[in-house]
Amino acid sequence: MQTGILPPAGRNVVVVGTQWGDEGKGKVVDWMTDHAQGVVRFQGGHNAGHTLVIAGRKTALQLIPSGIMREGVKCYIGNGVVVDPKHLLSEIERLEALGLEVRSRLFISESCPLILPFHVEIDRAREAQRESCGSGKIGTTGKGIGPAYEDKVARRALRVQDLKHPTRLEAKLRTLLELHNAELTGVLGAQPLELQPMLDDALRAAEQLRPMMADVGYRLFQAHGVGDNLLFEGAQGTLLDIDHGTYPYVTSSNCVAGNAAAGSGLGPGMLHYVLGITKAYTTRVGSGPFPTELDIETPGTIGHHLSTVGQERGTVTGRARRCGWLDAAALKRSIIINGVSGLCITKLDVLDGLQEIKICTGYELDGRVVDVLPLDADEIEQCKPIYETMPGWSDTTAGLTNWEQLPAPARRYLERVQALIGAPIDMVSTGPDRVHTILLRHPFRA
Ligand code: IMP
Repeated sequence: MQTGILPPAGRNVVVVGTQWGDEGKGKVVDWMTDHAQGVVRFQGGHNAGHTLVIAGRKTALQLIPSGIMREGVKCYIGNGVVVDPKHLLSEIERLEALGLEVRSRLFISESCPLILPFHVEIDRAREAQRESCGSGKIGTTGKGIGPAYEDKVARRALRVQDLKHPTRLEAKLRTLLELHNAELTGVLGAQPLELQPMLDDALRAAEQLRPMMADVGYRLFQAHGVGDNLLFEGAQGTLLDIDHGTYPYVTSSNCVAGNAAAGSGLGPGMLHYVLGITKAYTTRVGSGPFPTELDIETPGTIGHHLSTVGQERGTVTGRARRCGWLDAAALKRSIIINGVSGLCITKLDVLDGLQEIKICTGYELDGRVVDVLPLDADEIEQCKPIYETMPGWSDTTAGLTNWEQLPAPARRYLERVQALIGAPIDMVSTGPDRVHTILLRHPFRA
């Protein structure tokens, strides 16, 4: 029985990467914030790098949600995010130096685990050790993400809420430092860290962060209740997900759409549409299997074209990204895991001028054909891609804003991708600026 009038409820959209990250989520989130009153990060940390180009000006965000670039939009850092307090403050200050008002519209969950200096040291020392004993680097960003999530799961993490209690903070920090120094010195052959400088930094950060600490889940519920539209901004990509990605060559959080609920505190019944962001080809940074990978070093090759025309270098680490053809069999896996409602294809213009374009439709594995990415990284290494070849186009698609303006072969390519993976293309991004966008169906109005 319905009693009284239900409050107006906003519409909530989740944006996730469907490949190995760097699909161009930041631009799309920024573009959609004209329809949102709040943007929420729900996983990862400052390993993410979202590059935004607004009126020709380039800004890179790592931890703060992309909505911060739009005046009046509230930004929420949910409990699923790991927060490096020092980095967060420096990012706030960098945005303030651009003239943006940040502190009054940024809300940080008290439940976020903290990334502390020993997490960074351990992350880097472990990678160095993996490399020296030839056991295979993961290629992490070296930001301490994995070790911080380990502490969370081990139920010993310091959380943002501990910053409010100096005595509790010091006691927990001392215990955790002892534990991690033992690993640094005893296992990794690194130097121990000292308590006092770490504590002083944490206390300084606490003072500044305190006004922004919040019960984010409850705030989101209230915002939803008064009709705010919320945008959930995924970081990394589905194939880097700790459970569903190419384990162990993955990040340490769940990057899939389902985690928008657990990582923010707003239930899944209040999420209405999942937008999957897909680059028109594929890239990956760090180690791990990549069936459609091409040579990016040799001038004149397709891989070199994708790497140079696409400017495929990491926002956070500056590393050259590995490049290859679009992998529809891997995308199919992402579409299923995320329950994608619609896709946004990005960087289509990078394919301009190629005579032929290939799409991987499946793989040959142990004498059989498989049409979806296997779950085992060793099996993926054995996969030989099966390609379908389509004609390319010579006209430029850069900056186009209308589907009808696209060259016919470009439309056919997109339609084929859509048919292969079984999800509708609702948007196409044709350049880095907000305006370089073709809209077919708006996620907030779909
Ligand atoms: P971590 O997240 O720093 O632990 O790194 C684990 C893996 O995820 C490595 O292969 C990284 O290159 C990759 N990774 C982490 N963040 C991003 C991102 O924002 N884009 C692409 N790859 C990422």
